[in-house]
Amino acid sequence: MNNLVLGTAQLGMNYGVVNRMGQPSRGQALAMISRAVAAGISTLDTARDYGTAEALLGQLPTRLRQQIKVVTKLDPLRALPINADEETVRAAVDESIHCSCEALRVERLDVLLLHRWEHRMGWNGVAWARLLELKDSNKIGVLGASVYEPAEAMEVLRDPNVQHLQIPFNLLDWRWRAAGIEQAIAARPDIVVHARSALLQGTLINSQVCWPAVEGFDAGRCIKTINLLVANLQRQSITDLCFAYVRSQSWIHGVVVGCETMTQLEENLKLFSSLALDTLQCAQVERSLPRPPDAFLNPTKWSQLEAVSAS
Ligand SMILES: NC(=O)c1ccc[n+]([C@@H]2O[C@H](COP(=O)([O-])OP(=O)(O)OC[C@H]3O[C@@H](n4cnc5c(N)ncnc54)[C@H](OP(=O)(O)O)[C@@H]3O)[C@@H](O)[C@H]2O)c1
Repeated sequence: MNNLVLGTAQLGMNYGVVNRMGQPSRGQALAMISRAVAAGISTLDTARDYGTAEALLGQLPTRLRQQIKVVTKLDPLRALPINADEETVRAAVDESIHCSCEALRVERLDVLLLHRWEHRMGWNGVAWARLLELKDSNKIGVLGASVYEPAEAMEVLRDPNVQHLQIPFNLLDWRWRAAGIEQAIAARPDIVVHARSALLQGTLINSQVCWPAVEGFDAGRCIKTINLLVANLQRQSITDLCFAYVRSQSWIHGVVVGCETMTQLEENLKLFSSLALDTLQCAQVERSLPRPPDAFLNPTKWSQLEAVSAS
């Protein structure tokens, strides 16, 4: 299934601002993963922090597990004080890797990402140094990082030890173009790039009431423009346009999409087998859409918005 990567946050916990269905049952989640692999999806994105997601992947039949590559992420190490000593930091990293291996039922992690880029330099670099040791001893295949902002991604691209980068990206996210990400990635052909957030946690395909209210950004007008683009570019739906735009970026190797139901998965499988946009169509999308502020594009900032509007 070309470049669709199945995100598993939605399968391991209640995830997403517009999520009304909640976490699927274990049986439903396993059925969805099996269906995705049968349809040709070969990479799944998970994390130590996604509730039962890693354990679900570990419960797949061996035959299916052998067909997939799993990208997981280091525990966010929330309990670790910033001044923790070296031994404590190394032990916390080892514990995260051990728990991931146990849950996934593997001896070695295919791909391990920092879930927080600040952990690269945190604790005087001790956590990262331990991860490099674990990679050298073949406990980890590939090391990488998941980031939230272009500035972080640029730092990642300067680190030769990072070979996998995950960024949030969607048709409204002009920040990556402005930062020159495509050119920066061209200089690092050894790096695999995955994009999440194609639907901005489902917000982009929901009605305006679900969109975060951000001062200076006219969500209603933006939604009208997106609908016009769907019609002009003869796409099936906003979901289709959102996917087609991200899929058309040649510098993105995998698009991480999450879903909660088999119906959504089937739709996504179908949409990913349709034609992406061509260069002119991408340019039309970029010309037509507004440039929302960072506070809209980064879901980690939405709770602050609610706090502000409620106060
Ligand atoms: N820091 C990180 O590394 C990080 C952070 C976040 C996510 N992720 C990864 O990225 C994955 C995707 O999460 P995301 O935040 O990027 O979300 P997304 O893929 O932009 O949106 C997923 C949401 O869109 C809705 N959806 C999906 N397919 C649909 C369809 N066919 N029809 C209607 N609605 C549909 C569902 O929400 P509703 O049904 O609730 O509307 C679903 O939860 C996660 O599973 C996780 O693996 C990584």
